[in-house]
This record gives sequence, structure tokens and C-alpha cells, in this order.
Amino acid sequence: MINDIKGVYYSQEFLADKVKELGRRISSDYEGKNLLLVSILKGSVVFMADLMRAITVPCKIDFMCVSSYGSGTDNSSGIVKIEKDLDINLEGYDVLVVEDILDSGRTLNYVVSILKGRNPNSVRVCTLLDKPERRVVDLSADYVGAEVPDEFVVGYGLDYDQYYRNLPYIGILKKEVYENKEDKE
Ligand code: IMP
Ligand code: MG
Repeated sequence: MINDIKGVYYSQEFLADKVKELGRRISSDYEGKNLLLVSILKGSVVFMADLMRAITVPCKIDFMCVSSYGSGTDNSSGIVKIEKDLDINLEGYDVLVVEDILDSGRTLNYVVSILKGRNPNSVRVCTLLDKPERRVVDLSADYVGAEVPDEFVVGYGLDYDQYYRNLPYIGILKKEVYENKEDKE
């Protein structure tokens, strides 16, 4: 698994600092509000687990699983399917969507518009990583951990073909890993 990684882009220590900083900002912004963290499965699970423990104001959590159609490293067809919906009725909540990475922006654009339609007090977005070069829709996150270049990154919850989520850091995947595989498909 480690042989497939070109290099560590963000170390465990860097990520831990970023998450603490986000937790502090969110805690101060949501003081006195009715915070509901909505984790987008599966990619945000590691980030969510760390972020929620860095938040010091009362909050509830819920999970939503969405899939974007497409293949391999390009799953940005724009067609998003809800595989598992939220359990909580959003009325009265200040929703903060927790995502692993903002790429084209299509997935979050869809998720945010669905959630806004359910009459919450507010909807904001917190993403661990942002790839601004790849954006095709006009969407920016309210909280961003760090930016990444236009390369395929894995680890700390992010996958390629469902693997590498358990790496404790963000690494850049070697191109030959997905190019060889996509050639065979
Ligand atoms: P978007 O709809 O193009 O913004 O895609 C967002 C989703 O694509 C993320 O939630 C990830 O699941 C996936 N994705 C985009 N870029 C990467 C990457 O570099 N590594 C792993 N997953 C990625
Ligand atoms: Mg994802």
C-alpha cells in the first residue's frame, strides 16, 4: 500500500493542527446556535471523528451517504445518488456539512441544495481539503483545512477504489496505480 504513494503531502501532525484550528473557529462561530454536524460518508469519517472532538460547543451528529457516478479517479459526472439519508429532521438546526474534499464541487452543490430545501436555520460547509483548480460549479466552503494541487490524493478517509482510507496522512497516489487499472477496465 505504501509503495503506491508518491509522497506524503500532509503529515499526521499537520492534519491534527489544522483540525484543532477548525474546531476552535467552529466552536466560536456556533456559540449559542443549534449545531448539527452532517458527515458525508465514507470519505469524511476520519476527519469527522477528529473534528467533532475538537468542537467544544454542544452539537449533534448525523450521517449521509452519497455516491457520484463516474469511474476511477473521475467521479464527477454530476449525477449524485443518496445511498443513505439523514435520520434527523433539519428544522431548527444550524447544519454544518463535513466533507473530505471539494473537487468539481458538484457533489456538495447537490447535497447543500437538498439540505437547504428542508428548512434548517442555516447550512454551511466544512471541507478538510480543497482542490480549487478543479472547480466547475460556483461553490466555496465556509471552512477549509488545506488546499491540494490537481493530483489524486488518498488517506485520512480518502480512497482510491475504496482502498487507502486507513493511511493516517494525506498522500499523493502514483499515477501508474490508477492509469494501469483504468487501462484494464
Ligand atoms: P466533486 O463532486 O467533484 O467535488 O467530488 C467530490 C468527491 O470526489 C469527494 O467527496 C471524493 O469522494 C472524490 N474525490 C475528488 N478528488 C479526490 C481525490 O483527490 N482523492 C480521493 N477522492 C477524491
Ligand atoms: Mg467523498
